Amino acid sequence: MSDVPGGQPTDSALDPAPERIREMGAAAVEWAAAYQEGIRDLPVAPRTSAAELKAQLAEPLPAEGRDFEALMERFRDVVVPGSRHSGHPRFFGYVSAPGVAVASVADFLASALNANLPAWRSAPAPTELEHVAVDWIRQALGCDEGAGGLFTSGGSMANFTALAAARHRHCGDEVAAHGAAAHPKPLRIYTSAEAHHSIHKAAALLGIGRANVREIPVDERFRMRVDALSRAIEEDRAAGLDPFCVVASAGTVVTGAVDPLASIAAVAQEHDLWLHVDACYGGFARLAPSARPLFDGLSEADSIALDPHKWLYLPADVGCLIYRNPEQVKGAFALGADYTRVLHSEPAEAFAFWDYGPDLSRRFKALKVWMTIAHVGADAMGEAIESNLDRARHAAALIDDSDDFELMAPVELSIFCFRHVPASMRGRALSDDEERELDKLNERIMLTLQQAGSSYLSNASIHGRFALRGCVLNYRTTRHDMEILLDDVRGAAATVPPP
Ligand SMILES: Cc1ncc(COP(=O)(O)O)c(C=O)c1O
Repeated sequence: MSDVPGGQPTDSALDPAPERIREMGAAAVEWAAAYQEGIRDLPVAPRTSAAELKAQLAEPLPAEGRDFEALMERFRDVVVPGSRHSGHPRFFGYVSAPGVAVASVADFLASALNANLPAWRSAPAPTELEHVAVDWIRQALGCDEGAGGLFTSGGSMANFTALAAARHRHCGDEVAAHGAAAHPKPLRIYTSAEAHHSIHKAAALLGIGRANVREIPVDERFRMRVDALSRAIEEDRAAGLDPFCVVASAGTVVTGAVDPLASIAAVAQEHDLWLHVDACYGGFARLAPSARPLFDGLSEADSIALDPHKWLYLPADVGCLIYRNPEQVKGAFALGADYTRVLHSEPAEAFAFWDYGPDLSRRFKALKVWMTIAHVGADAMGEAIESNLDRARHAAALIDDSDDFELMAPVELSIFCFRHVPASMRGRALSDDEERELDKLNERIMLTLQQAGSSYLSNASIHGRFALRGCVLNYRTTRHDMEILLDDVRGAAATVPPP
């Protein structure tokens, strides 16, 4: 509300009266509460098309504004039914969080406060809160005091930022000033053949080149083979290439494999390479007692990428990057300009996030992370993650006990990969042609399942074969949901003609 000459308060779309803000908020909160209440009864994915949605949504630039009620109606009637509901307890696709309610409230508050966090001076308390929330994550991971970092848009950006820091430690200012061509030898990154493609993308964007990401073979549990890693580094050095970084995965996106972190850390140390761990999917599983031993060695990493918008259950978007030694990375990002000159002398007040990553303006993502952890507590979070692990193991046991499904990879965390095998193909070796038919059959089963709307799986390629892939990442998912899922897959298979 603003005053116009004459002292009358205004009430416009740009500057609404407090009463209007209360009305808008009440309508939004009412919708959010009802949505959470009824989410189990919604079809998991919409039955719609781009053409249908465009017909409902496209319109010319509006010259005149319209009432909030009309916009809310469009949201309720078109946007919601045209959305996939990742918070549904039987949404098992990709790596998607349900979006915990307290975080959606925090997102609203962050926008209402409109804090922007490039530096302490821009947002003193929000900056301190980001330090607190990042430090809680550091503690959850078991990293040493002194490690610290920042929130990012997501895991891809956290991986990109870590590789930029790693490259700078190795190459110094020369590459920052003159570009990748200023470095005398091709730089090499090592990661497993199962690593997320954001590593390759970062290498491309940083001028290192996708071809210089050397993929190390994996063992029978899809974990990086440490002997092959050592050999690859030695071969490359002998060939005149310049190894500088190893990227281990703590939860691969396809099967959830956690690389042997302690052994990889020892190799990285021996060869003086930066160790980055992509823990975007798996990292928070360290809070679950049954998974904790998998993360031994994580604290040795120079950097760790995480995604609170995955297994901390938060709504998108928020990623996180933790550096073991934050002060060491500043050279990679610091750039002097008059508008970034910090005049505070107290170090905590001279702090700027732009020294630790590429962004200048930054949303107050820390509020939703802080509110979620503080409201739920680490113990309850660990129990929820443990329940997700249990559901995936339960599905694996049901699959193993069945005669119409086949598990295609070990269940390491909460991802399970399997396929339907029709009676005519069971209990014998299949020819290549039959394998291809089985791929097509399972692909059709997945599409039918997704259309039906009771459960949702995505797909993966395991040893070149099509797999139905599920990832349990929702505190609402029960063991019974896993049984319903398998029945839904059977129902889909019954409607798809066998090869
Ligand atoms: C292992 C892993 N790394 C990185 C990413 C990328 O994360 P984001 O989608 O937040 O960019 C993902 C996403 O699924 C992932 O599973």
